[in-house]
Amino acid sequence: MSTTQPSPKASNDARKDPAQVVIFGASGDLTLHKLMPALASLAGKDRPSSGFSVIGVSRSPKSDEDYRREVGERMPPELKDAFARLAPRVFFVQADVEDAADVAALAARLDELPGGRSAGRLYYLSLKPDLFAPATAALKHAGLLEQAEGGAPFRRVIVEKPFGRDLESAQALNHALHSSLREDQLYRIDHYLGKETVQNLLGFRFHNAIFEPIWNRHHVEHIQITVAEQLGMENGRAGYYDTTGAARDMLQNHMLQVLALVAMEPPTSLDAWALRSQKVNLLRSLHVPGPELALRNSLRARYTAGESDGEPVPGYLEEKGVPADSSTETFVAIRAEIDSWRWAGVPILLRHGKRMPQKFTEVRVQFRVPPLQLFNRPDGLTDDEFREKLREGSLCQIRPNVLTLGIQPRETIQLSFGVKTPGVAMVMSPAELAFDYRDHFGQTSAPAYERLLLDALQGDATLFVHAEEIEASWRFIDAFRRAWDRPEAPPLAEYPAGTWGPDGADELFHGCEGGWSRGQG
Ligand code: BG6
Repeated sequence: MSTTQPSPKASNDARKDPAQVVIFGASGDLTLHKLMPALASLAGKDRPSSGFSVIGVSRSPKSDEDYRREVGERMPPELKDAFARLAPRVFFVQADVEDAADVAALAARLDELPGGRSAGRLYYLSLKPDLFAPATAALKHAGLLEQAEGGAPFRRVIVEKPFGRDLESAQALNHALHSSLREDQLYRIDHYLGKETVQNLLGFRFHNAIFEPIWNRHHVEHIQITVAEQLGMENGRAGYYDTTGAARDMLQNHMLQVLALVAMEPPTSLDAWALRSQKVNLLRSLHVPGPELALRNSLRARYTAGESDGEPVPGYLEEKGVPADSSTETFVAIRAEIDSWRWAGVPILLRHGKRMPQKFTEVRVQFRVPPLQLFNRPDGLTDDEFREKLREGSLCQIRPNVLTLGIQPRETIQLSFGVKTPGVAMVMSPAELAFDYRDHFGQTSAPAYERLLLDALQGDATLFVHAEEIEASWRFIDAFRRAWDRPEAPPLAEYPAGTWGPDGADELFHGCEGGWSRGQG
């Protein structure tokens, strides 16, 4: 990264002062369903050991007690005890983040709460994206962001997605935020990076030396990443979703982050700077296609009425809050290329859809088939016919080795290979080596937000997204978006809810490359 320096670690992280976690959007869904349970779980485990208090901020009036009750009622049963320990350290401040007097009053209240000015402060902007810049400016104006370089106590801001809606708006937002704080104070969250199995992509690649020599264009035929969801527009999400769509909601952020970890060059350490530099390099090397190639190598679609788990569900256009003339996609599939010596010519297939038959996220690395095929020649073909069919790609009877990294819900690693079927004939059958996190470790991993909040409290930005990663991702996605807006772009395809997407999605695969994964069974 040209402009990026190693981020200084705040020197107070080792001190024992409790921090203040200040959440803007105190009563929003994200806060009540994800952030508060994550904070309660951390408090229950005494992490970080220096402790923290939580200050919810929103516009509607309520007392500390009201807020504790509101949060407590939404707490999952298994976290009720942990929350009981945290509750006395949960406070509420009524403030409109766009109102300078309110923010000044907030500053005064924070000074009175445990730790006061000497507490490290982590501000979480669980707000509408158009408030990220004004909120940060207001915090700066009230003196709430002052932190000496590398000094104590820390002042950090977590920003939720979506971060911009294209390259231009993301650059403008980065610019606006940088006028209030330094990059090392800014933690852009992508909750996929908090998932254990996503972090294991690094562990798997860089701790197991046997894979690195084959992790390149010489041995990998293609890489496929799927994020399939069963959800549609539950919980009144349509208003947000219709202005966003599948490519902006999942592909630009979560999926490209996963791809970056799968395909980047090895980092020299696990420092934020070292890791994020390699991700930036990878994201910048994604080939940005012109309109014709972008249209040829992508497919967008929207679900129509169908079934989910055996129940009838409406089509996207019938969902509450979706405008009748909506052109928002709920499914996107892209065939991409990476312009690097490691990956040139290796197709990268990315697919995401709502209302698919099952929820799963998975990375599949499909390896090349042997150069000479000795087995499983179909009856009735001469040797020459067999060779000819293989050469022209009309016979795909060899099953390539596939390494499948299951991210969720099943957290698995599977390697498929061929074995000789017992008997006199040399007939090969598919077999598999499989690892399952739950079977092996007997426990489920901590939720993503828990890990990320802990990291942010401890000043570790490794699993947060740098400005340059965001911009490189948008540069790539914008090329497709611009192509989809052109008059010659085909109309949105359709697929019935509860199916694997539109007809034609498999056409993004060529020759014997196969097709889209149907999940983890
Ligand atoms: C969010 C998207 O970032 O990720 C949602 O806005 C999506 O549309 C969600 O449903 C999926 O997250 P997960 O962790 O359930 O895969």
